[in-house]
Amino acid sequence: MESKKATTNAGAAADFENLEYVSGFGNHVSSEAIAGALPQGQNSPLICPYGLYAEQISGTSFTAPRKLNLRSWLYRIKPSVTHEPFKPKVPTHGKFVSEFNQSNSSATPTQLRWRPVEIPEAPTDFIDGLFTVCGAGSSYLRHGYAIHMYTANKSMENCAFCSADGDFLIVPQKGKLWITTECGRLQVVPGEIVVIPQGFRFVVDLPDGSARGYVAEIFGTHFQLPDLGPIGANGLAAPRDFLAPVAWFEQSTCPGYTIVQKFGGELFTAKQDFSPFNVVAWHGNYVPYKYDLSKFCPYNTVLIDHSDPSINTVLTAPTDKPGVALLDFVIFPPRWVVAEHTFRPPYYHRNCMSEFMGLIYGGYEAKADGFLPGGASLHSCMTPHGPDTKSYEATIALGSQAGPQKIADTMAFMFESCLIPRVCQWALESPNMDHDYYQCWIGLKSHFTCEATTVENTDLQNGHN
Ligand SMILES: [Fe+2]
Repeated sequence: MESKKATTNAGAAADFENLEYVSGFGNHVSSEAIAGALPQGQNSPLICPYGLYAEQISGTSFTAPRKLNLRSWLYRIKPSVTHEPFKPKVPTHGKFVSEFNQSNSSATPTQLRWRPVEIPEAPTDFIDGLFTVCGAGSSYLRHGYAIHMYTANKSMENCAFCSADGDFLIVPQKGKLWITTECGRLQVVPGEIVVIPQGFRFVVDLPDGSARGYVAEIFGTHFQLPDLGPIGANGLAAPRDFLAPVAWFEQSTCPGYTIVQKFGGELFTAKQDFSPFNVVAWHGNYVPYKYDLSKFCPYNTVLIDHSDPSINTVLTAPTDKPGVALLDFVIFPPRWVVAEHTFRPPYYHRNCMSEFMGLIYGGYEAKADGFLPGGASLHSCMTPHGPDTKSYEATIALGSQAGPQKIADTMAFMFESCLIPRVCQWALESPNMDHDYYQCWIGLKSHFTCEATTVENTDLQNGHN
């Protein structure tokens, strides 16, 4: 049986628009593109159904605790090992970092903000369009992360990408992504995210012709759903809203097909003569998955004060320290704000964690100007940040008469880490760097008065007027 790979023709579009998925987070899934292709009763029979090869992909050590153990068995037409030796990619990529140190990146406590990077004019696919902005730690030592961004204007051709360094959490901001993986295909639109676990080979096609977005790559661990604590058994991101692909394969000869492997922050290429998307059936719990952020069920303040942003955690990559994340993925979705006698925007803040923010669409409540969809900001460990002057003054001017308000048509997000990021030189020297960012706070004036708070003021603050 042969199936065709979707590219850009109308039939392929229908394929990607109407894909089936398997629902659930972290499930052990079985999927077969041909009935009977999945071996029964054992993982590695002497002869697999249809003459397929059995191949395991391990996302955790064999001996990781069962509740954390991730692996899948892939049944494929030819095994992944059938390729020529890896060679350093020519030309080199040059804008990936996975070992952050003084030789390749800088530390700065300054608040940083970038305007959106333009879509390039030169032909640029997803791989070439990726560049590291900042990060910490080391992919070699299996502890750390890198934050990348991408702009691209063409589909990947006759090649597949994979990162041996870590999981890719991709946040598209502009342009639909058609992603083909060894487990099957996914369509991911802005407003959705996709996680491609470490080691999976994938291709990104751009049906809209251009794309821009953000990537968090994590080294040495994987994303989990956060614990819900007193919230209870439901709320935030529901497990059933995470969607994994179903088995899909192509049986084709592809002369000169190239596997581009990110390994220790460098790219290597290996030639083979067949598509890596030749997995006819698979089972396991180590799989790519996507999630629609509009399905997030926000919990928030219903009386006083602004909740800490952790209340909006979609996924967390833990460290060994309880409650301390290597990287949290947090969103700021549409929601009602109703708090009484409360400064409703995010509070002024210094944080032992470091906060990288992006904006998918709309505006962000703490920044009246300058933080644009496709742009980014970085507030590192203990760097002060908070609402800009315009947002502060507008909030105070409203007083206690604001009433319930809906923050609508917006989706901002944050990658928050316990590790302090170092920033790549090309990001610091980018023409998109907003060198006047600090100005947004310079206008904050003193409202201090030595006069005691009056009863009238207290009443106002308590919402009695
Ligand atoms: Fe903060």
